[in-house]
Amino acid sequence: MFYFWKRSQVPIKVPIRISKIDNLIIFLICILISLVSSYKFQLLSSLQKSDNINLLLTFTEVLISCWILILVSKRENPIITSRQIILIILLLLAVQAIKVTFPSTISPLSIIVPPALIISQGMGTITALTWVSIASLNWPEYAIPINNTLFFISLVCASVVSVLGGRIRSRAQLLQLSIIVPLGALFSQWILIGGNQVSILWNQELDISNNKIFSECLLLAIIMLLTILFMPIFESIFGLLTKARLLELADKEKPLIRRLSIEAPGTYEHTLLISCLAEEATRMIGGDIDLVKTGALYHDIGKLHAPNWFIENQDGSKNPHDEIDDPIKSAYVLQAHVDEGLKYARKNRLPKPIADFIPEHQGSLKMGYFLYKAKEKDLNFDDSDFRYKGPIPQSKETAILMLADGCEAALRAMNINASDSKALEIISKIIFSRQKDGQLDDSDLSIGEIFLIKRAFLNVWKRIRHRRIQYPTSKNNTFS
Ligand SMILES: [Fe+2]
Ligand SMILES: [Fe+2]
Repeated sequence: MFYFWKRSQVPIKVPIRISKIDNLIIFLICILISLVSSYKFQLLSSLQKSDNINLLLTFTEVLISCWILILVSKRENPIITSRQIILIILLLLAVQAIKVTFPSTISPLSIIVPPALIISQGMGTITALTWVSIASLNWPEYAIPINNTLFFISLVCASVVSVLGGRIRSRAQLLQLSIIVPLGALFSQWILIGGNQVSILWNQELDISNNKIFSECLLLAIIMLLTILFMPIFESIFGLLTKARLLELADKEKPLIRRLSIEAPGTYEHTLLISCLAEEATRMIGGDIDLVKTGALYHDIGKLHAPNWFIENQDGSKNPHDEIDDPIKSAYVLQAHVDEGLKYARKNRLPKPIADFIPEHQGSLKMGYFLYKAKEKDLNFDDSDFRYKGPIPQSKETAILMLADGCEAALRAMNINASDSKALEIISKIIFSRQKDGQLDDSDLSIGEIFLIKRAFLNVWKRIRHRRIQYPTSKNNTFS
């Protein structure tokens, strides 16, 4: 009873499964990180008992830190893939290896801040902050006395980059960040250390000159700019979906979207309205708005293979389904809009989270009209012939798109004089039918969230209704 109550109130996120081989690779990299981090103890020729304990402690501490990092990344981003986890820990391995190789020359600024930018952009702020705290552990103090001020400034810069990196929505803002952060680091070092070589914060004697401060910050700016330059490569190798990439894909001048607007104008209009419905609903439940907006634009891209087979593009002309008069073939054409959509997605290298909207917006829904026709004709068929192949929505965003897709035509067709309660009743009916059919089972939408989605759809409908009301004009038809 308590479980069902909790399930209805709080959304439970289930992380996606990672294959055994990927788990093994991740585990081996974590072991490698722990070995590299405890390298200094292994180098000691005559290991004392206390060194042995320290070696074991460092090894275990780093291994547990890696495990916590993976847990946090999965918690923040349940659809994180094994490739992305591997990227996070490979960056950690690289940092630990650099620390051990160049203990006296490398600055924490240039090795902690740029990876924080990649992680916050691709995986989120909390994962990036966790990564920064773990990467700051095990600094090789044995080689040089640690510069606390520089270390403190590095942590502040990395935290700023982690927080802002997760919110940045364009490459231009990324460029601004890569200039502002090194400048901030430069000024704060000048203020806190300056030429007197004594840290204001820790009263620590420092072997650091103004030239060194400047060159360190310049190096940080260069590495950050290079990171931004190579970001598209990271995006394609590790399947990262940054905000900037999402917004680029949502550009309506993209060839695939332009083709949709020219070759299937009805589908394009349908796509725009669905995008509005899904955006409003996702905002209400606190989901990923940019993801759902972009996913909505591409969800029916497969209709490009035969636009006139879909009612919204028929424009009063003959319906090819009536001409073939074969419900089974018609069902095949409907399924083809999903299969062809996935082919378009592969050809145009759409990221997986966007391509997922193509099959999941249809889930395993029944093709009700053609099923009815087949029954009417008394054909010999299997029920699965009239169901989409799935899978059912695996995330809240794809589930919202499925619900928006179901409600769009009904809301568009609704009388402008219909009351709010009537509109809400129709929305609820459509959503309930999807729920009853088990289409939302894997999406983790709670009952509370479904309620909010209904309200969001109603709000959008009110906006559409307002747009359709004719404004009164003056007698001579001039507008003020
Ligand atoms: Fe569709
Ligand atoms: Fe659609």
